[in-house]
Amino acid sequence: MTALLQVENLEILFKKEQQYVSTVSGVHFHVDSGEMVGIVGESGCGKSVTSLSIMGLLPKDFSKVSQNTKIHFNGKSLTEITEKEYRKIRGNDMSMIFQDPMSSLNPVLTIGYQMNEMILAHTKLSKKEARKKAINMLEKVRIPRAEKIIDEYPHQLSGGMRQRVMIAMALSCNPKLLIADEPTTALDVTIQAQILNLIKGLQKEFNTAVMLITHDLGVVAEVCDRVVVMYAGKVVEEASVDEIFNAPKHPYTIGLLNSMPSLTDEKDRLEAIPGAVPLPEEMPKGCRFAPRCSEVMDACLESAPEKRMLSSSHYCSCWLYEEEEVG
Ligand SMILES: Nc1ncnc2c1ncn2[C@@H]1O[C@H](COP(=O)(O)OP(=O)(O)O)[C@@H](O)[C@H]1O
Ligand SMILES: [Mg+2]
Repeated sequence: MTALLQVENLEILFKKEQQYVSTVSGVHFHVDSGEMVGIVGESGCGKSVTSLSIMGLLPKDFSKVSQNTKIHFNGKSLTEITEKEYRKIRGNDMSMIFQDPMSSLNPVLTIGYQMNEMILAHTKLSKKEARKKAINMLEKVRIPRAEKIIDEYPHQLSGGMRQRVMIAMALSCNPKLLIADEPTTALDVTIQAQILNLIKGLQKEFNTAVMLITHDLGVVAEVCDRVVVMYAGKVVEEASVDEIFNAPKHPYTIGLLNSMPSLTDEKDRLEAIPGAVPLPEEMPKGCRFAPRCSEVMDACLESAPEKRMLSSSHYCSCWLYEEEEVG
């Protein structure tokens, strides 16, 4: 089976003083139809720019993807299509929600107006049918009194309600892929759990594939099927949620797990990974995690480790596993 989304050799460059500097580099991963994949890593690891590159929304005047990058989605090569074709795909076949719904909602237009615009642009429904569809979607995301809320303005809603509206809009055209970039980070914990469960429920109901971007492994544990761990613009480990939590391999993944608050764990002090994510212009020569790694060896400082298959569903890029038999 071919994947719904296949990202191969993704490299993203940003212009800095007339020169392009590589940030994300050599990134491979895929998302199958209907599955929920978590993309995890600390802030600055390249999660957002990766998702923007898939959406074709990187700022064109000062960034680009390299020539070797391949992004296949739903049978199309996204690096080869025109902007017009891309616009057709966005909102139709793939849509995206962000951490801050206010940045995507227009404050001077009602929720209904904005939803109608979206639905009318992507379907053949009449205005009246579009409004009905919008109300129906608001009900799907469990907004109470949807018929009243539809005529309200974004600022009249709470953060959690605004995020529900964004999810309703993103799903109103029944996309094959939803990219959710830190959709619950700005919300408090109880609302966070409600929104995650909502996304999970809708993913199942509509069989939408979801790429859930988060810095929080706890979020992933809740709802994802598979996890892609990114560090400093590279994928360091990829596995099922079960394998990531029960048999993590990469020292970075292990570090993330150890710095995760846990309800069952007796540890009262969390162990943060020392140091910080390097800036694009200061990437170490070998493994990008080497300067922060507790297991660092000579090989790690020399060259970057290749992606290694540890099982049919578990991949890791780390010199610790370079010599292991493929199982
Ligand atoms: N607008 C931009 N201009 C220049 N560099 C950027 C821009 N946006 C992101 N980057 C670079 O890409 C890297 C990854 O950023 P980002 O994708 O936002 O990380 P994450 O979402 O994982 O926190 C950053 O280290 C930053 O240097
Ligand atoms: Mg981000």
